[in-house]
Amino acid sequence: MSRSIGLSPELVDYVRGANRSEHPALARCRAETDAMGDVSRMQISPEQGAFLQMCARLVSARTAVEVGVFTGYSALATMLAMHDMHGDAARLIGCDISEDYTGKARGYWDEAGVSEQIELRIGDARETLAELIATRAGAVDMVFIDADKTGYDAYYEAALELVRPGGLILFDNVLWGGDVVDAAHVAEDPDTAALVALAAKLRADARVDIAFTALGDGILMALKR
Ligand SMILES: C[S@@+](CC[C@H](N)C(=O)[O-])C[C@H]1O[C@@H](n2cnc3c(N)ncnc32)[C@H](O)[C@@H]1O
Repeated sequence: MSRSIGLSPELVDYVRGANRSEHPALARCRAETDAMGDVSRMQISPEQGAFLQMCARLVSARTAVEVGVFTGYSALATMLAMHDMHGDAARLIGCDISEDYTGKARGYWDEAGVSEQIELRIGDARETLAELIATRAGAVDMVFIDADKTGYDAYYEAALELVRPGGLILFDNVLWGGDVVDAAHVAEDPDTAALVALAAKLRADARVDIAFTALGDGILMALKR
């Protein structure tokens, strides 16, 4: 049986080189976010960006929601694929609590010419998603969840109401740096416990089909039946 391998720095470079080049605005977002120091770890990797773009294409996403925008990389990657397919009809609603982080995002979106298609809503995503359900239930094609881990279950339930049948929900960081297999972390750390509980819940959830992937820090995919 084959198994997922840990990637050496050389293999990471190989994977990145085998993908197409990032859009210049994505490259600038990555470089400037790197310069912010430790927090830059929150940004998804370029290969995860390419993966999100392929997911958007596979479900022909025209309307997407993102929970956890940070400096705007994943939202821009997703929007570029959606814009390529649907032009100005593509829409992404990004949810974040930080004016500070997301303040940097608009410049990259402007540079890529898709700023008009991205709406940023600042506030706790639990409230923002509840507002969105009132107007967009069943009308969303894809939701990317990449914010506070203890919120993932609430975000999942809201996302399930938002997406159409055949719509895709993705969760980042479901391996949590490997802590999900460390019993002490699962017992003591609420973030790790929340991620383990979510994975177990989705495994048994008849409302979705799932694939738990080991890309990056782990991406869990749930396709609404
Ligand atoms: C891991 S970062 C997102 C990274 C982003 N997807 C990217 O690729 O660059 C998590 C983000 O979630 C936001 N966040 C944390 N708690 C939140 C909440 N309750 N509601 C909305 N956003 C939240 C943080 O401000 C942060 O910008």
